[in-house]
Amino acid sequence: NARRPIVIANWKLNGGIDLLCSSVASFIGKHYEAEIVVCPPYIYIRDMLNFLQHSEINIGSQNVSKYASGAYTGETSAQMLKEAGCKYCLIGHSERRAMFRENNASCQIKVQRALENGLTPVLCVGENQQERENNVTKDVLIRQITESLEGIKLEDGSICIAYEPVWAIGTGKAATPEMAQEVHQFIRHELSAQYGETQAQSIRLLYGGSVNKDNAKQLLTQTDIDGLLVGGASLDPDHFLTICQQAT
Ligand code: G3H
Repeated sequence: NARRPIVIANWKLNGGIDLLCSSVASFIGKHYEAEIVVCPPYIYIRDMLNFLQHSEINIGSQNVSKYASGAYTGETSAQMLKEAGCKYCLIGHSERRAMFRENNASCQIKVQRALENGLTPVLCVGENQQERENNVTKDVLIRQITESLEGIKLEDGSICIAYEPVWAIGTGKAATPEMAQEVHQFIRHELSAQYGETQAQSIRLLYGGSVNKDNAKQLLTQTDIDGLLVGGASLDPDHFLTICQQAT
């Protein structure tokens, strides 16, 4: 298929700028088969853009405001992120859902804002431990995807979806490649039912949750896994470089 592999680094609330630069310094001047994206804290977006100007790495944001402008202290709009040089925008990461009260309704607005401003939204979905144990993983995912994309007109490949089981994030317990593939296949099937097969085949699906240089390859060889969303390991130059090289 024509889906270019993609690896996204989510640096979360980590810095400073020296640490972040050192994790991608070796990428400058090199070509990768996969599209590589880094998501720094907002304050470092411009610095990273300058630092990476002779690289192929793209920049994403970790979040976006659901508001366009006005009296919303502390917020950053999609237009501002676009102006700052972002190409991608993470939306609805589980940490934002769990700690900052984000929900499918706010994600829906954010996806809309991102698309209106020319950013590619990376919608994050995933079940928690209890939901998996209760066998409601698929229901949770359908709900997250349907509600977060409700009424949104998609163009081919205009969004990415990251499947990140909450129990796998930062725990060292990644989903097995088979387990992740099963869920990705299910997501693609649902997208096909809702948006048609052509659309479903154009959307890149990423896996996230304890990805490292040792499990990346096997995850990436699964039919419906088009990329990886990497947290902890993306701050380690050895891990991140290896993961990106393996994404072919
Ligand atoms: O966005 C990235 C995910 O939260 C995964 O984090 O690779 O540290 O488990 P992790």
